Amino acid sequence: MSEHVKMIIEGKEYEFPVICGTEGEKAIDITSLRQKTGFITMDPGFANTGSCISSITFMNGEDGILRYRGIPVEQLAAHSTFKETAFLLINGELPSRKDLNRFSVLLNDHSLVHEDMQIFYQNFPRASHPMGILSSMVNALRSFYPALQTAEEEINIMVTRLLSKIRTMAAMSYKISLGHKVVYPRPDLSYCANFLNMMFDTPVRPYEIDEDLVKALSLFWILHADHEQNCSTSAVRVVGSGRVNLYASISAGIAALWGPLHGGANQKVIEMLEQIHSNGESIKKIVEMAKEKENPFRLMGFGHRVYKTYDPRAKIMKGMCHKVLKKFKAEDPLLDIAMELEEIALSDDYFVEKNLYPNIDFYSGIVLRAIGIPTNMFTVMFAIGRLPGWISQWRESVNDPEWRIARPRQIYVGPVKRDYVPIDER
Ligand code: CMC
Repeated sequence: MSEHVKMIIEGKEYEFPVICGTEGEKAIDITSLRQKTGFITMDPGFANTGSCISSITFMNGEDGILRYRGIPVEQLAAHSTFKETAFLLINGELPSRKDLNRFSVLLNDHSLVHEDMQIFYQNFPRASHPMGILSSMVNALRSFYPALQTAEEEINIMVTRLLSKIRTMAAMSYKISLGHKVVYPRPDLSYCANFLNMMFDTPVRPYEIDEDLVKALSLFWILHADHEQNCSTSAVRVVGSGRVNLYASISAGIAALWGPLHGGANQKVIEMLEQIHSNGESIKKIVEMAKEKENPFRLMGFGHRVYKTYDPRAKIMKGMCHKVLKKFKAEDPLLDIAMELEEIALSDDYFVEKNLYPNIDFYSGIVLRAIGIPTNMFTVMFAIGRLPGWISQWRESVNDPEWRIARPRQIYVGPVKRDYVPIDER
C-alpha cells in the first residue's frame, strides 16, 4: 500500500502521497498543495525541495556516497576512463567494446570547430575570463550548427558535437589567448590526450604525451562528471524546461558553474593558497577570518550543501595530488599549505560543529597545476568534466512525460495596491 502523510492546515486535514526512491529516500508529493489548500511551501536555496525524479546519480551526504548509474565513483575512478564514464552517464549502461569504439569514432568525427568561430575568440578582450568565453561560444554553436531533420538524430548529434567540441574550444581559447597558432585535434589520440596535446603542443616544442598525466586528467574529469541537482545542473534543467535547445541550456550551466561558491571555487582555492604562500599570510588568521560572522570571507574548498562528511571526491583527489607530484619528483608548496590548513580547520570547533570538510575543489587545483593548466582555466576544466552530467540530466528532463516548465512561486511582501500619481503631483 502506498504511503501518505497527513497535514493539518487551518484546522483542516489533507493527505499527500509519499514518493520513495530505490535507495530509500522519501519525498512528500505536494504537487496538489496549492490547488487543495491555497498554500505554497517556502524553501530558499531549495535545500529541502526535490525538483525531479532521476535515475542518473545517487548521493548520500551523511555517509559520503556518490554513485553514477549505481556504480560507486571510487570504482569508476580506479578502473574507468572519462570517455567510458561519459557514455555510462548519458546512456545509462557501461558500453561494450563495440559501443566504445563507435563512440570514439563519433567524437573524432565531430572534434573540429567551425573555422569562422576563431574570429570571435580573437575579438574577446585579452582579460576576458575563459568561462565567459566558453559560455558564449557554446551558445553560439546553435548558429553554426542548425537543427537537423529528426528529433532523435538531432539529440544524438548535438550530444557528441558538444562533448567533442567543448575540449577543442577550451584549448583553442587558451592558444588564442597566448597569441599562438591553434592546434587541431588528432584522431589517433584519446579524448584526454587530445586535449593535452591541443593545449600544450607548439611548433618549437612538440608535446610529449605522458600516460600518467592523461590518467590524472581522466580521473579529474570522472570525479566532476555529475553531482545530481547542484546549482549549474539545476540551471541546465530550468533553462531547458522552456524547451530551448541543448546548447543554450549548457551555456546557462557554464554561467552558473562560474560562481565562486560553485565551480569557481577551484580557482579561488589556489588563489587563497598562493596568498598564504607568497604574502606570508598566516593559516590560523585565514581560519579565524572564515569564522567571523560579519566577514563575507569563507574558507574556499570547504563545506558542501549535501556532504556533511568528507567529500568522497576530495579524498580521491588528495591521493592523486600525492601521486602526480611523486611521479615528477616535484614538490608543490601549496600542497603542504593545503594539508596544514585542512588539519587546523578539521580540529577547530567551528568547522567540526558545522560539519565543514574539504570538498572536491580543495585539492583539484594542485592536480591541475601539476598537469600545467593555468589557474584561470580551472573552472573550464570543471565544466568539461561536468558536461556528460549536464547532458544526461537535460536528456532525462526532455524525455520526462511529467516535465513542466520550471516556474516557482513567491510570497509577495511589497506595497499593497496603490494608485499611480502623475509626475507633477509627486
Ligand atoms: N567557510 C566558513 N564558513 C562556512 C563555510 C566555509 N567554507 N561554508 C559554510 N560555512 C558556514 C556558514 O557561514 C554557515 O554558518 P551559520 O550557520 O553560522 O550561518 C554554515 O556554515 C552553513 O553554511 P551555508 O552557507 O548555509 O551552507 P550552504 O549549504 O548554503 O553552502 C557552500 C554550501 C558550498 C556554498 C558553502 O559551504 C561555501 O560557501 N563553501 C565555500 C565555497 C566552496 O568551496 N564551494 C565549492 C563547493 S563543492 C563544488 C561544487 O559542486 O560546487
